Amino acid sequence: MSQSVSRSTWTNRWAFILVTIGSAVGLGNIWRFSYLAGSSGGSAFVLVYLLCVGLIGLPLLMAEILIGRRGRGNPVQAMLNTAEETGNSPWWALLGWAGMLGALLILSYYSVVSGWIADYLYQAVVGIRVETAEAARQGFAALAGDPLRMGFWHTVMLTLSVGVVARGVVAGIEAANRIMMPVLFLILLLLTLWGGVVGDMPAALHFMFDFKADALTPSVVLAAMGHAFFSLSLGMGAIMVYGSYLDRHTRIGHTSLWVVGASTLVGLLSGMAIFSLTFGYGLAPSAGPGLILQTLPLAFAHMPGGRLVAVFFFLFVLFAAWTSAISLVEPFVSWLTERYGIRRARAAWGTWAPVWLLGLAVCLSFNRWSDFTLAGLNLFDALDQFASKIMMPLSGLMIAVYVGWRMGTALVREEIALRGAAFPLWFNVLRYVVPIGIVLVFCHNLGWLPWLA
Ligand code: PFF
Repeated sequence: MSQSVSRSTWTNRWAFILVTIGSAVGLGNIWRFSYLAGSSGGSAFVLVYLLCVGLIGLPLLMAEILIGRRGRGNPVQAMLNTAEETGNSPWWALLGWAGMLGALLILSYYSVVSGWIADYLYQAVVGIRVETAEAARQGFAALAGDPLRMGFWHTVMLTLSVGVVARGVVAGIEAANRIMMPVLFLILLLLTLWGGVVGDMPAALHFMFDFKADALTPSVVLAAMGHAFFSLSLGMGAIMVYGSYLDRHTRIGHTSLWVVGASTLVGLLSGMAIFSLTFGYGLAPSAGPGLILQTLPLAFAHMPGGRLVAVFFFLFVLFAAWTSAISLVEPFVSWLTERYGIRRARAAWGTWAPVWLLGLAVCLSFNRWSDFTLAGLNLFDALDQFASKIMMPLSGLMIAVYVGWRMGTALVREEIALRGAAFPLWFNVLRYVVPIGIVLVFCHNLGWLPWLA
């Protein structure tokens, strides 16, 4: 049964673009992008990532916004409403459920990693310097070995994110993004410029953009495709719920282009800043997940104005993480408020509790509980792999099938309002290229395509 509740709408289309960029730009664009590019051959990864963002990410982003706006509800209700309107089975609501729960799983460890950034920001503010590579390594090991310290920062970050959502869609989410996103862009520009001055920008550009065909292995292709998903927040109900607060007149195609363009630009610029410093200070780009936490502090310690740069850098990452975490809270909170009529603040703090507990378990999985494994992975890795490698591609596939094959061309054409050849182009990519691409990533991630490894 369709359910109509009076719902908020973003102040204008720029507000929607801003919050959606806020969701997309996060730890994924900075921490994950730089370490993946650094350890997967640089340019090959970057170029395939760009291709995937255009061919899979953009069409899917548009499809997810479309469902949200047409369904006018939280992810479960938006699926129920559109399924009813288009004569599809209500079982499609499972897609909304999977997204909402997937978002909470991601949030539990995302908040822990955001906490690491908060801890490093604190260290930069109070002026803790690391002089040697060994000290940097030990600094990170000390954090990972201390569940109380990690738990503290996890609590801070989760509380900040939930606190914003509790204030409301416009007064909370939109307002927070209006402050944080411009500051984020400004800091990023300054960092990139400074990276060019004190670092080795030509080496960074060479590393990121000089195409080396031999680095283009199938597993790099598939890793880059998977990253396109994560970095655009696809398939987790976040984009859907943000789309559900979008007014009827905004053109989905235009807005999506802005979102994809800005989020990709942030990834590229922060990659340039990070690699310029990495090369300029003779550090290894292939340091793995510790790249921005174990490598950059060394560069900060030795550069002119390093303390201030470090504060700005970690503030930049913190804002990026915070605005993304907010979008992971909203899908479930909107469901609680619309389904049960619970007040928003109460729904938000009710969501805080289970995520907080799971996050504490994640903190312990790095130290006291490191022996406890699921499929050979500690809890942190298991959650990350399950959400980003299984749930995200599956939900993305379902969205492509639903919008591409089940909603009906006439309705989709009306809602997306693309002109001329743009509609058939987008629709056919959504129907064919996206599902095939996702099935390839998915099978590879499950190890079903060993010859591609
Ligand atoms: N896109 C975010 C990032 O790149 O860090 C992560 C993310 C946010 C994934 C929201 C999924 C999501 F629903």
